[in-house]
Amino acid sequence: MTDTDGTLPQREPTAWDQLAPVIDLVTPLAVRAAATLRVADALADGPMPLEEAARRCGAEPGALVRLLRHLACKGLFTESEPGTFGLTGTGDLLRSDHPSQMRVQLDLDGFGGRMDLVFTGLVHTLRTGEPAWESVFGAPFWRHLAEDEVMGESFDAVMAAGPEYFEDVMSAFDWERAGHVVDVGGGTGELLAAVLSAHEQLWGTLLDLPATAERGRARLAESGLLDRCEIASQSFFDPLPTGGDTYVLASVIHDWPDEDAVRILRRCAEAAGRSGRVLILEGHGSDGGDPAMFAEMDLRMYTIAGGRERTLEEFRVLIGAAGLAEVAVRGTALDQIGIECVPVAG
Ligand SMILES: C[S@@+](CC[C@H](N)C(=O)[O-])C[C@H]1O[C@@H](n2cnc3c(N)ncnc32)[C@H](O)[C@@H]1O
Repeated sequence: MTDTDGTLPQREPTAWDQLAPVIDLVTPLAVRAAATLRVADALADGPMPLEEAARRCGAEPGALVRLLRHLACKGLFTESEPGTFGLTGTGDLLRSDHPSQMRVQLDLDGFGGRMDLVFTGLVHTLRTGEPAWESVFGAPFWRHLAEDEVMGESFDAVMAAGPEYFEDVMSAFDWERAGHVVDVGGGTGELLAAVLSAHEQLWGTLLDLPATAERGRARLAESGLLDRCEIASQSFFDPLPTGGDTYVLASVIHDWPDEDAVRILRRCAEAAGRSGRVLILEGHGSDGGDPAMFAEMDLRMYTIAGGRERTLEEFRVLIGAAGLAEVAVRGTALDQIGIECVPVAG
């Protein structure tokens, strides 16, 4: 019905209208389903009939057409003529070979998607204060990754994705001052590879749990860097190899509650000895940056594994408790921080 002047009457936004931006689950899950089935890979050669797209991604055409039409309305796909679908620039970001590696971050069959699906257990976390991973996937987070090879490998791949992250992390420290970097919880060696490639004077040790460390060995060998690297397959809760001058913890401490975080930092302090340094690299607004990003990551870390994001002041408490003293703090363009510490004598 229109008013006398022909305009539609104004209506008050309904409760649904007001909450819509924060309650929709359909579109986020539809995008993840498209990433999981590699729909963007299927359409990468250009617009094609539904049946061919469905064949390429192993989907049932009657179901896929509904997904494509919904996501066409959201700007990811095109339907240039009825039943012919193509990619938009946004949809193109979901291609497996896109440098952003977003597909792997969203894949519901892998760690990327599961770290979102764990939120189906958020109520459990809120009622108990425990991480939700076990209640949703059947085993505590780190045990799940250790026991399920596919999931462990997928976690490593998600951690290694995101070239901007590693470039940004590198900017938080002057690597020219280092001689032997020990990357503690260094994943498959993405950061170490970038640092060693950029600084020919450097030696490195990649330290991580056995399956991840072995994947790191292969990755570093592929880059021709293994002759400047040692691989330490072990837990960072055990004594760490000595001999390094820079012990790096990149995005490690936020995985853990305070008590465990202090144990890890103490291990680094012991190994660094009198002349070494410990470098904590953490992100997401720890230095007073974007509070929304900080709050979201804090909720994520707590729900997944019982970890947390920390402010600089909160890091300072852990650093002191671990027998370290802060000597410098450097922020990065992407809101990460590098906190350089030295062991306190005695
Ligand atoms: C969030 S990832 C960060 C990886 C890498 N530093 C980065 O910046 O991408 C945490 C890393 O800690 C490792 N990790 C978890 N528990 C560990 C343990 N007890 N001992 C050694 N490494 C461990 C994981 O395998 C993983 O590689």
